[in-house]
Order: sequence, then structure tokens, then C-alpha cells
Amino acid sequence: MAKISLGVTSSVSIYKACEILREFQKEGHEVQVIETKNATALIPPALFNALSGRRTIVELFDDQNAWSVAHVALAKEIGLFVVAPATANILAKFAQGLADDFLSTFYLAVQAPILIAPAMNEAMWIHPQTQDNVRRLRERGVEFVDPAGGYLACGDEGMGRLADPNLIVARGLELLCRGSSLQGKKVLVTAGPTREAMDPVRYLSNRSSGKMGFEIAREARRRGAEVVLVTGPVTIAPPPGIEVVRVVSAAEMKAAVDKRFSKADVTVMAAAVADFTFAAPAVRKIKKEGLKTSLDIVRTPDILKGLGERKRPGQTLVGFAAETNAAAAAARKKIREKNLDLIVANDVSREGIGFDADANQAVLTDRRGRSRKTDVLSKRALAAVIWDAVEGLRGQKK
Ligand SMILES: Cc1cc2nc3c(=O)[nH]c(=O)nc-3n(C[C@H](O)[C@H](O)[C@H](O)COP(=O)(O)O)c2cc1C
Repeated sequence: MAKISLGVTSSVSIYKACEILREFQKEGHEVQVIETKNATALIPPALFNALSGRRTIVELFDDQNAWSVAHVALAKEIGLFVVAPATANILAKFAQGLADDFLSTFYLAVQAPILIAPAMNEAMWIHPQTQDNVRRLRERGVEFVDPAGGYLACGDEGMGRLADPNLIVARGLELLCRGSSLQGKKVLVTAGPTREAMDPVRYLSNRSSGKMGFEIAREARRRGAEVVLVTGPVTIAPPPGIEVVRVVSAAEMKAAVDKRFSKADVTVMAAAVADFTFAAPAVRKIKKEGLKTSLDIVRTPDILKGLGERKRPGQTLVGFAAETNAAAAAARKKIREKNLDLIVANDVSREGIGFDADANQAVLTDRRGRSRKTDVLSKRALAAVIWDAVEGLRGQKK
């Protein structure tokens, strides 16, 4: 049994929220309704109170909530946040991060999966501003059940009707399962760059920020896995609830990963390991006069290939490729050569995505050679797509 928050806004389809509430309850879940003030003009809280058996939340500043910061406390308790029906107004507020009532403030505090089912007149739905808001929310990992076509309450025909409540509930239950789909599994993730010392001051490295690997670790944890994150030097904070192993060089990363690989059910190598290291790093800083114009470098060991050779049945190995022209053929070759199950290739040459950016777009290719390109997504949303693909490959998807 999980706790679900059901956000209800002032759309004519509001009456269908009662059915959605009921269906979640039939599945054994507890539902806390949150109405906007405008929604209470269409259906007063009393009906939702009676159906849910809980006091509907409307106001941010409420005597009953005085003992705690309710939006934060509730956000921590829930396994799923559904907004159905969602008005054009609430989409705009969520997309902007505007927090001027309980529902919109709550949205910012929620860490659980979020599912939105919009409902509005067709002109409002297809308005570029609304579509822009939906796109922004999708990029942040919010899931949608899009409105359907048909007769609208305003008398028009067209897109904008709230999707079938059964569909909304089914999608919600799927998202809820995600929360435990990796329960009992051990996951090893690498992230960030490595630094190869030339002397105690100078080093060879790359532009990896570690963000993608950290999001992959976070998502695995969110799905219930026991996660070890081996990270090169980065400036970002690790997600909570995971074991972090900090390394500097490719050799240290190899040692840390090799030690833990045999226990991992899934290993995701998102680190950008340096290809070269210095043959003989100096113990003391090399003086300018002593610097040569050519450097004596050697290849670092191929960590991923080594793991592919050791991989046992039941283990899943995922590699990353930072391509400047992500070619599917190159990905397929790498999968075969390194005995991978999935390769995530992202185009690091494009402005605004890839290295150091918050957004990413990737081509996922599996061991059967099937490829698919994702939309431009936040790294958090892309991490969910990658885990869905991994779970699909492992045949664990419910
Ligand atoms: C009877 C009625 C029905 C409405 N239906 C919708 C609707 O289906 N979708 C929508 O986006 N707005 C609809 N609106 C407009 C919203 O109620 C309005 O934009 C409101 O400010 C939204 O507030 P809320 O998002 O805080 O609930 C409707 C308004 C009225 C009076």
C-alpha cells in the first residue's frame, strides 16, 4: 500500500477525479486529495473528504497544518503525485516553479514520480504557451497522460478531454511500481572524469561534470536498489542513501570498480575515464625549464572491456559513449567488442546538452542492435529512460 497525493484543479472534468480516487483506493492505496481554491467552487472539499476518508488540503496556511510544514511533510510520505484534471493554469505554474498555493508549492517539494492528466478546451491545449509548458515539464521528468479527442463540455469537439480515468490510474500504478522495481538489486555506477597526474600540480582530464552518472545512481536508489557510486573528482553533491567511493585516476577507478563488479547485478559506466595517463608522473612539480614539448603518455586500461570479459550470466553491463557524431554502427561495434548489454551514446558536440549541461539527448542501443533516440531530456529524466531500458532488457519490467 502506498500513499498517493491527488491534485485536483478547476476543470469541468473535475467530477472524474472522484473515479480516479476510487480506483486508486480499490488497488489498496491511500489517497490524499489536494484541491486548488478554484476547484472547491466546482466540487467542495466535503465530497473528497467523504470519499478519501481524509481531510482535503486546500490552504497553505491552515490551522490544522500549524504543527508542521505540511507540504514538505506530505511530499516525503508519498509514492506518487497525480494531478487530474490539470488546468492550463496549473501547468503554467508548475512549469515556472510558481508556488502561491498549497498544490503548486507541494509540486516543488515532491521527489516521487509525478503524473499529470491535463484537461481543457482544445484552443487552450494547443496554444503554444501551454505546449511549451508541457514540454518543459516533460524535460524535467514529469509524466503525462495526454488529453483525448471528443466532445468537450464547452460544447466544442476536439482535443482536450481528460484521458480515460482507467488509463490515468493504470499509468499511475506503473509509476508507483518503479519505486520498488530494483528492490534487492545491487547497482554499481561510475561517474565524473578521472585525473591523470603529470606532477603534483598538473594533470590530464576532461570536461565530464558527473551529473549524468549521479542521476543514474539517484534513480537506481529511488527504484529500491543498493547503490555504490564510484566517482572521479566532481563538485556536485552525491544523492542521498548511496555509498560513494571517491577516486582520482583511471587506475584508482579501475581498482574500485574491479573490486565491486562481481557483486553487482547492474553496472553502469557513465564515467569519462581518461584515455591516457603519464608514463612516469613526477613526484615533485616539474620546473618550467624542465618541461619537454612532448609528453610521455601511455594508454589507460580499458575498464569497461575488462568488465565485459568477466561478466557472468545475470549481470547487466551498460556503457556510455561520448560521441561527437553519435553513429549507431559505432555503438553496435562497441557493444560486441566490449560484451555490453546497452550503450548510451550522447552527442557532446551540441550546445546545451551533454558535458556539464543539465540536459542530454542520447541514442540507446541494446545488444540486439535495436537503437532509439530520446528527446532532449533533463539528465534526471534521461536516467529514468535508461533504467526503464535496463529493466526491460533484464525482463523485470512489471
Ligand atoms: C466552469 C468552468 C470550467 C473550466 N474548465 C477548465 C478546464 O477544463 N481546463 C482549464 O484549463 N481551465 C478551465 N477553467 C478555467 C480555470 O478554472 C481557470 O483558469 C482557473 O484560474 C484555474 O485555477 P486552478 O488551476 O487554480 O484550479 C474553467 C473555468 C470554469 C468557470
